[in-house]
Amino acid sequence: MSDGGTAGRADFVVVANRLPVDLERLDDGTQRWKHSPGGLVTALEPFLRARHGAWVGWPGVADLDVEPFLDEDLHIHPVSLTAAEFAEYYEGFSNATLWPLYHDVVVPPVFDRTWWNSYQRVNRRFAEAAAEVSAEGATVWVQDYQLQLVPSMLRELRPDLRIGFFLHIPFPPVELFMQLPWRTEIVQGLLGADLVGFHRPGGAQNFLWLARRLAGFEPSRGQVGVRSRPGVVQVGDRTVRVGAFPISIAANDLDRLARTKEVQQRAKQLRAELGNPRRILLGVDRLDYTKGIDVRLHAMRELLAEGDITVEDVVMIQVATPSRERVEHYQEMREGIERAVGRINGEYGRVGHPAVHYLHTSVPRKDLVAFYCAADVMVVTPVRDGMNLVCKEYVASRHDLGGTLVLSEFAGAAAELTSAFLVNPHNLDGVKDALLAALNIEEAEGRRRMRALRRQVLTHDVDRWARSFLEALGTPHAE
Ligand code: ADP
Ligand code: G6P
Repeated sequence: MSDGGTAGRADFVVVANRLPVDLERLDDGTQRWKHSPGGLVTALEPFLRARHGAWVGWPGVADLDVEPFLDEDLHIHPVSLTAAEFAEYYEGFSNATLWPLYHDVVVPPVFDRTWWNSYQRVNRRFAEAAAEVSAEGATVWVQDYQLQLVPSMLRELRPDLRIGFFLHIPFPPVELFMQLPWRTEIVQGLLGADLVGFHRPGGAQNFLWLARRLAGFEPSRGQVGVRSRPGVVQVGDRTVRVGAFPISIAANDLDRLARTKEVQQRAKQLRAELGNPRRILLGVDRLDYTKGIDVRLHAMRELLAEGDITVEDVVMIQVATPSRERVEHYQEMREGIERAVGRINGEYGRVGHPAVHYLHTSVPRKDLVAFYCAADVMVVTPVRDGMNLVCKEYVASRHDLGGTLVLSEFAGAAAELTSAFLVNPHNLDGVKDALLAALNIEEAEGRRRMRALRRQVLTHDVDRWARSFLEALGTPHAE
């Protein structure tokens, strides 16, 4: 990464809570930039780099001012947060109010007026930063639940801009959204955009209903399609479009990486290090209570207890990136998961043969792909997930047509990856049955399923997602 000038304003600007790089403070007092966690960055970074755009976001550390800089061809514009804003806007309103509310209230959302005030203040700061960075008539693409007020705030400051908004998490059923004390403000905030995008048509439909109910507009009534037939809301003299654009990954890059000798050797080595078990189950997630890590551990324990699998035969690897570690429900969940891993290993492990290998860390890309290549069954069991990119990454990594995917019906990806073993994560017996079926699948059947999955993932990559969104937004940056 090089320091560099950021003279001039940008024609294409992404605004997201996080920058694609995260500043990390090391124990010896020094600091370094590292890759940021989560699916949003995975999806957007390659696209924006190829277009030499600008990225407005928070560098991941509170109480720190960082000057704009050039990271290869990407203009980085840091927005600072104070320690209080980190607690109230990020940990509070974003991740203890909106995150659980939008994920089916899987834990109870907290409604706190101080957090809401902070959310408004920080959204305004992001809007001001975006206004400053954007050239006349630029396209600004605002991302995710942390910044839902930015579209209308930015429009007030810069009516010349073309503004898109994309929500990376599920948009909730209207009955749940209506719990939010600041529901009207959020809907009005989003209606500042020219195009509001969701993963699934259902989210778009819910939003259109709320635009009528809460903001008093007369939205179109037709069914929203996938990348087609967006809904329309006439807001004064502006037309706001509302559509569904399922996000994806840079599938070809991953396919290429998975084919390299280095990754293949690493995958082989990994299997050998595990004692060449007959089958390896793999989970890869941010350590988040929506991901259903507890579900798969529970299923694994019962399968071992009932003698359907043995520790000599089947091992599980769970790689979990630390996430939002000071938020109460995240701490409780981590403790619960680590207790469950300890219990399974205590009851069923042998010396040198734990049943579950649990890594509480983020792993480098190449190692992650080696894990994908080594795993026989990828287990993705969220109780709710906007899309879930991990399952798509697994599919893109399996050019050998090996490996089987067990996928929750409650991940957005389930609508596209219909050749996976689809499971209801609330039905433990169903999850166990699917795991057993995946572990014992006939080779030809496994190849048939993986071929169908790959056809979907390789033809619907992140470039297609971004282009379809930007085309619907009506900007020249779609190309
Ligand atoms: P979310 O955005 O909720 O974290 P996604 O599945 O959409 O979930 O995206 C997660 C992204 O983070 C994927 O690109 C995945 O490869 C990456 N990731 C998740 N866990 C790890 C890990 N332990 N190490 C490295 N990357 C990880
Ligand atoms: C999900 C969200 C992103 C977020 C990421 C990581 O992908 O949709 O907006 O950046 O998780 O979470 P964090 O709170 O660490 O930014």
